[in-house]
Amino acid sequence: MKIKVLGSAAGGGFPQWNCNCGNCTLARRTAGQPAVSAHAASPDAANPTVHARTQSSLIVGEEGSADWVLINASPDILTQIRATPELQPARGRRDSGIAAVLLMDAQIDHVTGLLMLRESSRPLNIHATAPVLADLRTGLPLLTVLSHYCGTVEHTLALDGQPFAIAPLKHVRFQALALSSKAPPYSPHRHDPHPGDNIGLLITDTRSGRRVFYAPGLGEIDPAVAQAMRSADVLMLDGTFWDEDEMIRLELSSKPARSMGHLPQSGAGGMLERLGDYADKRRILIHINNSNPVLRHDSPEHAQLRAHGIELAYDGMEIVP
Ligand code: MLT
Ligand code: MN
Ligand code: ZN
Repeated sequence: MKIKVLGSAAGGGFPQWNCNCGNCTLARRTAGQPAVSAHAASPDAANPTVHARTQSSLIVGEEGSADWVLINASPDILTQIRATPELQPARGRRDSGIAAVLLMDAQIDHVTGLLMLRESSRPLNIHATAPVLADLRTGLPLLTVLSHYCGTVEHTLALDGQPFAIAPLKHVRFQALALSSKAPPYSPHRHDPHPGDNIGLLITDTRSGRRVFYAPGLGEIDPAVAQAMRSADVLMLDGTFWDEDEMIRLELSSKPARSMGHLPQSGAGGMLERLGDYADKRRILIHINNSNPVLRHDSPEHAQLRAHGIELAYDGMEIVP
């Protein structure tokens, strides 16, 4: 099994189009290009202090296969596909390496890329929970819109913890887990949470038995999440905010981290403290907001992450668990 990160930033990307915070200004001035190799993520003096990042998405596939499952369809998907040759297998006049799409929530940064896939020569296979599919038929009716283009085949994800396969991947199994996070602002569930508004994914390589737990939007590590984390070898978790009041302090927004469904990294009960219990695993933060000080390789917060042995995902990062 192989995972490739297409986009490692939270909604808005990095730098964000209208943001003049210190990070975005620095990224605009110096970083132009995203990191695309392992060395680029290291904080060597030779490397820039920050790397640009596109919005949250990754692909899962098998070594040597031409077919991939796209996990979340970001508004940056066309740029991401251009940066990812494995998604262009060119087996026919019109072709794509994206065999299916799995959506983990109905947030703008995770679903609006679907519209960019409308030229697909076959209906798009979309795997999502019932609440996510409902949001995409009502508040943000992307599925209805797509029915006038390529169409979709919807697969409703159960939350019963049972492993399921997504064709044509043969040796990968997925398990969906309801998370405590937040439905999008436009959803009737924003302040009325329902199981399945947001999910975490356990992704298992059935040949090696190795397992990844992926949760780009995670508000709380409840006992079920903790159990999933213990069962995994690699954790790819919500890296949105360093602290609860980051957006307020930087005068970017009035929303605290937890009100948006994101567990911040610092402070009592924060992600760093909680990840201390999982030091035997590879731990990677992903879905990083442009305001987060960890994005600067020369920041004390970045040094703290490194001291804890925690990695920061970057666009182009490959993970073979
Ligand atoms: C979130 O996860 O909270 C989103 O990134 C917000 C957004 O896309 O606007
Ligand atoms: Mn998001
Ligand atoms: Zn910014």
